[in-house]
Amino acid sequence: MKKRILIIGASGQIGTELTASLREQFGKHKVIATDIREGDSALLEGGPFEILDAMDYKALEDIIIRHEITDVYLLAAMLSATAEKFPMRAWNLNMNSLFNVLNLAKDNKIKKIFWPSSIAVFGPTTPKTNTPQQTVMEPSTVYGISKQAGERWCEYYFNKYGVDVRSIRYPGLISYKTLPGGGTTDYAVDIYHKALKHGEYQCFLSEETTLPMMFIDDAIRATLSVMEAPKENINVRSSYNLAGLSFNPKEITESIKKHIPNFEISYKPDFRQEIADSWPQSINDEVAQKDWNWKNNISLEEMTSIMLDNLK
Ligand code: SER
Repeated sequence: MKKRILIIGASGQIGTELTASLREQFGKHKVIATDIREGDSALLEGGPFEILDAMDYKALEDIIIRHEITDVYLLAAMLSATAEKFPMRAWNLNMNSLFNVLNLAKDNKIKKIFWPSSIAVFGPTTPKTNTPQQTVMEPSTVYGISKQAGERWCEYYFNKYGVDVRSIRYPGLISYKTLPGGGTTDYAVDIYHKALKHGEYQCFLSEETTLPMMFIDDAIRATLSVMEAPKENINVRSSYNLAGLSFNPKEITESIKKHIPNFEISYKPDFRQEIADSWPQSINDEVAQKDWNWKNNISLEEMTSIMLDNLK
């Protein structure tokens, strides 16, 4: 059967760029972009786009049958900071959308699923540095609990029903095309916008708060790699650790100052500090390296140049 792809959450930070990459790779008519809201003009005009609520099983099933979809990328989710404000809505969205897709695969209506997990699956009792693939996982946020539960269900559906679901624990993602929405790592995008616009930024995390991060191009490449890897290479059916960069607000500020010497940062930590403090600082991704040859490319200095050049 020929590959036909459905992206759920295509208007978001990851979806926008993943849709563009998949359209380029497989042809625009093979990739159906969907979201609950419209995205930017490049997304809407670059290929088929439909409005879809990921919680609406019937509508989802209809699109899958109508377009003869084989592979689904489920990117719709409520992120960490917003989920703390709307716990039940976050749980319902993050879990029901996943069950909808897993059950469609279980019923043989689709062949393959990509579902993102996050560094948020880790918690205050997890080793903070070089966090292993398998370790203590006691997430303390609504978002983290939903991703941790989701990982268990993915593995369960693989073991019990043979569902080919693949996943990555994304770190904080940095991009210039589409803004992230409601995460704890969003400061690392906002800081570039404010540096160019105002020459200053007030950060909601403290200066020493080191978190795992990654430039979007690396994250998209990782996503395509894990989905293309031969089935027998995928030894992790919960979700793969993925390491990219690790930096704190002070270090990203230093990298921006090399381009904008007068840039100034101030710190006013809010409720997101506690979320950040519960997460690891750096990730061990040896298993992803071994299973599908993962390696991060873009450094903090390179990322800063790319971000500032493109946002100018
Ligand atoms: N970037 C996400 C967040 O901050 C982490 O997965 O919520």
